[in-house]
Amino acid sequence: MRELSLHILDIAQNSITAGASLVTIRIDEQSANDLLTIAIEDDGRGMSEELQKTVNDPFTTTRSTRKIGLGIPLMKAGALRSGGDLAIQSELGKGTKLTATYRLGNIDRPPLGNIAETILSLVAGNPHSPDFILDYRVGEASYSFDTRTIREALKGLPLNLPEVMAWFKDNLKEGIQELHGGA
Ligand SMILES: Nc1ncnc2c1ncn2[C@@H]1O[C@H](COP(=O)(O)OP(=O)(O)OP(=O)(O)O)[C@@H](O)[C@H]1O
Ligand SMILES: [Mg+2]
Repeated sequence: MRELSLHILDIAQNSITAGASLVTIRIDEQSANDLLTIAIEDDGRGMSEELQKTVNDPFTTTRSTRKIGLGIPLMKAGALRSGGDLAIQSELGKGTKLTATYRLGNIDRPPLGNIAETILSLVAGNPHSPDFILDYRVGEASYSFDTRTIREALKGLPLNLPEVMAWFKDNLKEGIQELHGGA
């Protein structure tokens, strides 16, 4: 079973490939409704209606190295297996929003995996990384950041400076731990 953090990595990579300058990742765990929602939104090149129609099909891809794209179909399969679904809204030249839902308590729901590491690798992944917003909610609690605000505070220092990354990692880990009761 594929961890959800790896799906998030995949989908955010699609956004980066699509030339996004801002990628917003929302994770929302609501045990009261037995619902987990993961939404990834970008301001990249978007998809034509034709591509949107076929994108759930594992044989659709615009990549040239391999003829099948599996990122979206794999994530959708996991969502469907756990009583959820996956939907894509996209507009050419505007951007794309992918929303996946899961029944939180479903035994087939994939585990979240290491969200902190995933986010960190996206943010520090390469010097041309876009900006990211993370908005992680568990019940009433939330943890969020916006790399644009962090960049401003850094006054021109790069985000992938080792000291900055170390601070970022601690902040992420602690923030996410606190959401789950600080354990
Ligand atoms: N955020 C996005 N913006 C624009 N186009 C997208 C976006 N996400 C996916 N696509 C388009 O949908 C296609 C299918 O995406 P999918 O992630 O399923 O496969 P892939 O990225 O081509 O290959 P893989 O993820 O298996 O490496 C992509 O090739 C791309 O053309
Ligand atoms: Mg992909």
